[in-house]
Amino acid sequence: MGIPEVVLNSGQKMPFIGYGTAALPMPPPQTLVSVFFDAIEVGYRHFDTASMYGTEESLGQAVAQALQRGLIKSRDQLFITSKLWCTDAHHDLVLPALSRTLKKLGLEYVDLYLIHFPVRLKQGIVGEHSNEDVIPFDIKGTWEAMEECYRLGLAKSVGVSNFGCKKLSQLLHHATIPPAVNQVEMNVSWQQEKLRHFCREKGIQVSAWSPLGANGASWGTLDVMESPVLKDIAITKEKSVPQVLYNTTYSIFYIGGGGGGVSVVYWWWVWTAWLGFDFGDGGC
Ligand SMILES: NC(=O)c1ccc[n+]([C@@H]2O[C@H](COP(=O)([O-])OP(=O)(O)OC[C@H]3O[C@@H](n4cnc5c(N)ncnc54)[C@H](OP(=O)(O)O)[C@@H]3O)[C@@H](O)[C@H]2O)c1
Repeated sequence: MGIPEVVLNSGQKMPFIGYGTAALPMPPPQTLVSVFFDAIEVGYRHFDTASMYGTEESLGQAVAQALQRGLIKSRDQLFITSKLWCTDAHHDLVLPALSRTLKKLGLEYVDLYLIHFPVRLKQGIVGEHSNEDVIPFDIKGTWEAMEECYRLGLAKSVGVSNFGCKKLSQLLHHATIPPAVNQVEMNVSWQQEKLRHFCREKGIQVSAWSPLGANGASWGTLDVMESPVLKDIAITKEKSVPQVLYNTTYSIFYIGGGGGGVSVVYWWWVWTAWLGFDFGDGGC
């Protein structure tokens, strides 16, 4: 069974389901390589990394091994997303940042390059930052440089992450290439209705990070995984709560094609859940 794809406004096809590569605490690099390799082996084709995550090198090694061992025939069978960190959200630092990302991944291009947050930090800040390190975000300059990455063929699509309607409107005012994707936190208890409506109108694909509510993370919540309603549905449907959640995230947020649907990025999702994930059914 192939993973359904969405056609982005750039014309590129993106698999709806993505494998998130952020992890805290971070496993050793060799463990990551083997986890990502296994993910490719069981059929994942869309991977979500970021310069901030520290997983680009391991993902690149897994991709190289997968090619070498014939799991995939060519690089273009994968969809790799990476993200620009806030310290590089300066007009002249975007291209060098993407070049570093590509070097770590060992790839000639990423399929999707996102501005990680609509936030700019002073150049060179590592780790903890103070309020003085945050400087006004330069939407026009940063997006111009993102467009340059696209024109150079180093990113097949460009987009944003964690942008609300106001920031997106400002960006669209300057853009000659509209963002293909807006990756935001979204789950059944935080449905981002206004933002989804806005993005649908503008042809921007919304992508959901932490569709299970990031349980276990300091910013996460158990409201989603421990929801009595979802538990009831899971029992009735003889599925697990994550299976219900992934199906729900896809189904209830999917309204037609183009920018109407929502893609999902998550971590440690078992393949058996995929086998039980019914894309053809509008409900759970
Ligand atoms: N753009 C952004 O700013 C941004 C921010 C955050 C995340 N992301 C992306 O989104 C990805 C996913 O984030 P996330 O890890 O917070 O996602 P999540 O959907 O909230 O899932 C994470 C939690 O769900 C649990 N889980 C996952 N599958 C499960 C299953 N089948 N059964 C039971 N529990 C399950 C995991 O537990 P275990 O760990 O115990 O397996 C983990 O605690 C990240 O890796 C990253 O690529 C992007």
